[in-house]
Amino acid sequence: MKGIILAGGKGTRLYPMTKAISKQLLPIYDKPLIYYPLSVLMLASIREILIISTPEDTPVYEKLLGDGSQIGINISYKIQDTPRGLADAFILGEDFIGEDDVCLILGDNVFYGQSLTMSLEQAKKNLPQATIFGYPVNDPRSFGVVAFDNNQRVISIEEKPQHPKSKFAVPGLYFYDNRVIEIAKQVKPSARGEIEITSVNNAYLEMGELHVELLGRGMAWLDTGNPEGMLKAAEYVEAVQSRQGFYISCIEEIAWRRGFITTEQLRQIGEGLEMTEYGKYILSLVEELNGL
Ligand code: DAU
Repeated sequence: MKGIILAGGKGTRLYPMTKAISKQLLPIYDKPLIYYPLSVLMLASIREILIISTPEDTPVYEKLLGDGSQIGINISYKIQDTPRGLADAFILGEDFIGEDDVCLILGDNVFYGQSLTMSLEQAKKNLPQATIFGYPVNDPRSFGVVAFDNNQRVISIEEKPQHPKSKFAVPGLYFYDNRVIEIAKQVKPSARGEIEITSVNNAYLEMGELHVELLGRGMAWLDTGNPEGMLKAAEYVEAVQSRQGFYISCIEEIAWRRGFITTEQLRQIGEGLEMTEYGKYILSLVEELNGL
């Protein structure tokens, strides 16, 4: 299975913070925002990853993450000239996806919780059925919204409805089989001029091939859509990390726990970052293993 991170866009809602830099490079507490979606793909054991971004920002992502070999994955890059919409990921990613299934995650989506890995495994098992997720929020009007009938069957998915039919927002994490490439090519631009992921999801719904997995109370899906959301997300990460001592979305730790890199490789990364809390955390993982 391949993974795509969509990390372009204009970021206009966060100006002036994003005037000169991509939103997904801004920090959420102690690491760049893109680390969070990248860690989700890695938790899903996806090691072939394409990052799509703007012509200006793509070189910066390359500087940050390179070819991924340092964390045992394979990262390639593709430029999106204009933000045509989320479904463009599958058109731009056609060669990269090849004959495979694909998971798309938006570069500004942060997930955390014990049940996450299980939900990811389940989504992979559902293939060739597509899987999207539903997450209850107080005001779903700025998201895709999925509604159900009394038998829990999906009846509609609407993009940013003025009058939402349910409180279930659709987070930016989607699993599709290979048909998604052709489906994306058929999508017509919406009123806001974008080829919407919601249209892709509706195509799967019409084919009777869409599974919606509800994310429960134990899962955090954090909003980074405005400065307040970014601050709250940072506070959440800080609170969990300092209270529990577990880091959220430490990509080196996940690579090691998933067996993508050896303990020796992890130690070397930690030593290179020794002067930071982040590096000390990585070294503490190695020491724990050695019983120190
Ligand atoms: O976050 C979940 C929501 O994401 C879903 O509930 C919606 O159904 C989905 O349409 C999307 O809504 P947004 O309006 O919040 O998406 P936005 O335009 O902010 O783009 C999301 C990310 O993708 C953002 O980091 C920028 C990037 N992006 C966006 C577009 C349209 C691209 O890289 N290229 C693009 O063409």
